[in-house]
Amino acid sequence: MPISILAIESSCDETAAAVCIDGKIRSNEIATQQIHEQFGGVVPELASRAHIQNIVPIVDAAMKKANCTLQHIDAIAFTQAPGLIGSLLVGSQFAKSLALALDKPLIAVHHMQAHVLANLILEPKPSFPFLCLTVSGGHTQIVLCKSPTNQQIIGKTIDDAAGEAFDKSAKLMGLPYPGGPLIDKYAAQGNPNRFKFPEPQIADLNFSFSGLKTSILYFLNNAGTSNVFKEEFKVTQDEKQQFIAENLADICASIQDRIVSILLNKLKKAVKQTGVTQLCLAGGVSANSGLRKAFEELGKKNNWATFIPPFEYCTDNAAMIAITGYYKYLQNDFVGLGTSVNARSL
Ligand code: KG4
Ligand code: ZN
Repeated sequence: MPISILAIESSCDETAAAVCIDGKIRSNEIATQQIHEQFGGVVPELASRAHIQNIVPIVDAAMKKANCTLQHIDAIAFTQAPGLIGSLLVGSQFAKSLALALDKPLIAVHHMQAHVLANLILEPKPSFPFLCLTVSGGHTQIVLCKSPTNQQIIGKTIDDAAGEAFDKSAKLMGLPYPGGPLIDKYAAQGNPNRFKFPEPQIADLNFSFSGLKTSILYFLNNAGTSNVFKEEFKVTQDEKQQFIAENLADICASIQDRIVSILLNKLKKAVKQTGVTQLCLAGGVSANSGLRKAFEELGKKNNWATFIPPFEYCTDNAAMIAITGYYKYLQNDFVGLGTSVNARSL
């Protein structure tokens, strides 16, 4: 008998549902909440309300697309952690209600583990063990993945995530949220060697992006004269705006280049430390064209096997929850209706 999993993802501002049958994704539906754009970031209360409105139609659409009925579903998987608590509650309550009504088992999925397993959705797949650089708006991690259910975080950010580094840099330049894709777009026309931003000196596999953000702030306030704070370098608002407007592509290319080199230098170090040469990307920032290109070039140069999931499986989605749910199903890893969600990583 085929194993059919219905998965629900609602950890942040995307309401998503997917159906996976025997490890193959049959549908992957998503409702992106536009309401947050005007606020320059996700507003948690508005996200919860939008999830409530979206969840029934999205689950319905995922079931229809997969040509599946609720009677055919063997288990319901949902995102348990981490995320916005109100958002997680909507998805988990919906999943629990469905599990209770259909008398089907419930599977709790960790959102970050699911990002890593997005690499197992399509062929070619990495073999175990593999290293995954997971880069999203909330997380930056290097994960050593020994099996679908055995993941070890060997490096993580000690302050901002890579996506935040992109978004906050964009905000400093007056670009709208989320600024990551815009930096990517402008960077394509720019010279990445024009401006130099510092690389943090951290000995282990951890990341830090807060120093970069501060140096960009001073760099812009000084109209490119310097990366450090000195009252005499400071220019007027008009001069600053003019500097940004005239050099936007080069600034974006230089910022992107530094963020990418911070990420990949740590990955190189992780390969050296572990000897693992199957390398994956995951998370929304893996949509970045500079990162994708540099990651693949690095792989080619060093004879490493590199894997990047298609864009729809990199950003928040329910297909990754479904594939993780499938592997947990194979291990009889179920939870009771009393299980709770957690805003933090468990
Ligand atoms: O994984 P994700 O969709 O959501 C979570 O944070 O879980 O990641 C969103 C992040 C945002 O910070 C966004 O700016 C960034 O991914 N992002 C990009 C690009 N596309 C999305 N950053 C740089 N370049 C991109 N093309
Ligand atoms: Zn995510």
